[in-house]
Amino acid sequence: MSKKILVAYATRTGSTAEVANAITDRLCEAGLSAEARPVTQVTNLEGYSGAVLGSGVRYASWLPEMTDFVSANRDALSAMPVAFFTMHMLALGDDPAAMAERAKYTAKARDMITPTDEVFFEGMIDPA
Ligand SMILES: Cc1cc2nc3c(=O)[nH]c(=O)nc-3n(C[C@H](O)[C@H](O)[C@H](O)COP(=O)(O)O)c2cc1C
Repeated sequence: MSKKILVAYATRTGSTAEVANAITDRLCEAGLSAEARPVTQVTNLEGYSGAVLGSGVRYASWLPEMTDFVSANRDALSAMPVAFFTMHMLALGDDPAAMAERAKYTAKARDMITPTDEVFFEGMIDPA
């Protein structure tokens, strides 16, 4: 049986979950096997051949449960292709200052593993 791609996400107001589900749908449409799961429900990477890790940003950093997941699973993640995505609202520009600023959001995770790809998406604020 072919192995799956894990799309794990950390969210507070849902936008990262929405994008994780959209990414999963695209991977499945491309003929791959993929599943989206809240990172807090992933206990290990058994059965996965690659991972997409996504988090919302609070106070200039990925949510702690995602950084903790990377720390706890550093060896397994280092042995497979991993992509990062980040949902955020500040530092959205294409200028070097904005790019350097948002790069800090994932710096802790990048200190532990090197993603094969990394993207940043404009998120949303839920006024409620
Ligand atoms: C309390 C709070 C702090 C935030 N801090 C940042 C920040 O430092 N930088 C940023 O770009 N976005 C920041 N945001 C915006 C969120 O990252 C953005 O709304 C994201 O889409 C939330 O993801 P979620 O819906 O998956 O929780 C903040 C939002 C809130 C409510």
